[in-house]
Amino acid sequence: MNFTLSEEHEMIRQAARDFAQQELLPDVIERDDAQQFPTEHVRKMGELGFMGMMTDPKYGGSGMDTMSYVLVMEELSKIDASASVIVSVNNSLVCWGLEAFGSEEQKQKYLLPLAKGEKIGAFCLSEPEAGSDATSQKTTAIDKGDHYVLNGTKNWITNGGTASTYLVIAQTDADKGHKGINCLIVEKGMEGFEIGPKENKLGIRSSDTHSLNFNDVKVPKENRVGEDGFGFKFAMKTLSGGRIGIAAQALGIAAGAYELSKKYSMERKAFGTEIKNHQAIAFKLADMHTRIEAARNLVYRAAWDKDQGHNYDLSSAMAKLYASEVAMWASVEAVQIHGGNGFVKDYHVERMMRDAKITQIYEGTSEIQKIVISRSILKA
Ligand code: CAA
Repeated sequence: MNFTLSEEHEMIRQAARDFAQQELLPDVIERDDAQQFPTEHVRKMGELGFMGMMTDPKYGGSGMDTMSYVLVMEELSKIDASASVIVSVNNSLVCWGLEAFGSEEQKQKYLLPLAKGEKIGAFCLSEPEAGSDATSQKTTAIDKGDHYVLNGTKNWITNGGTASTYLVIAQTDADKGHKGINCLIVEKGMEGFEIGPKENKLGIRSSDTHSLNFNDVKVPKENRVGEDGFGFKFAMKTLSGGRIGIAAQALGIAAGAYELSKKYSMERKAFGTEIKNHQAIAFKLADMHTRIEAARNLVYRAAWDKDQGHNYDLSSAMAKLYASEVAMWASVEAVQIHGGNGFVKDYHVERMMRDAKITQIYEGTSEIQKIVISRSILKA
């Protein structure tokens, strides 16, 4: 076993750390408060190659491995989980899905500008009545020969208002169950496609989350990703990789909260000494450090599995389940260590605690991860 990062990995991690410190940190509190999308920051992340990290350079990407992507996600998320979810969805769910399963024409037309960061993508699976139960899609894509007619509503769509390219999962033939589902590429501006109001969220407030309505949207046949009926498997395969990105996000939130808590404990005095000298605080930091390191090992393992070409359904679900639990727990501990200061918005741990919650919900709740894990370990 080799736990050492390569020189290239260290360099990409440092680049992400510098960007997060210099560009994201200065106005992260204000953007969260105002629910302001980080447009300029996303543009710069595109220039740095963060928007299409794993995509082949011939399609506008950086051609890096999953490990590099995880390191970038971790560093961005230490400072700003709103910015990192934009990166995660674009990379894992949209660019990866299009590169793995799209046609050459789709890659040239849609993947290239997404991977370069010139455009933003969104992945549209969740519905008002089909969140966790993803096979029960109510959005329909009726086959009309040379095109589909798309009708329905999607909910909680990350990048919903800012995206230009939407991967929409919809039912074409209900009699075929999950084998009758397709993934269609929908462009902003197609007739009948409406973007609903922006959600006012507990956390990741400067990311852009909307419901989307499709009213008789005519989508050309060439915009279907993969064979007829491949849409559900497309979503599941794509989400397996997406869960590595969100696990890295959760890891970053936990690590960011820990680093701030450690620093605070060395500066803040109570009962005549820095609070790090009180075991009540020192033991919390010891627990945080230990659990975060355990989460990091699971997240890096899942990335390694993907890079080695191994099946990563199990390792990505375990990484997401555990890292998101650690993020939630560690960020609550961080607020506790900061005491009254932790409860006000001037201190970053308050935002981190709110941001952590979503990592237990999106790209499959913790309960969904347990379904994936238990099915994997219990299959004959
Ligand atoms: N890879 C390939 N195929 C897969 C697969 C995978 N990882 N997982 C399932 N499948 C296949 C199965 O093999 C099966 O195919 P066959 O019938 O040919 O064998 C088919 O898909 C159906 O699978 P299941 O019977 O396991 O389906 P299920 O109804 O029992 O549900 C589930 C499985 C895991 C619960 C799934 O519905 C699920 O993952 N739900 C959660 C959805 C989710 O994560 N939503 C998040 C929305 S996206 C988001 O949050 C993005 C964002 O904005 C940040």
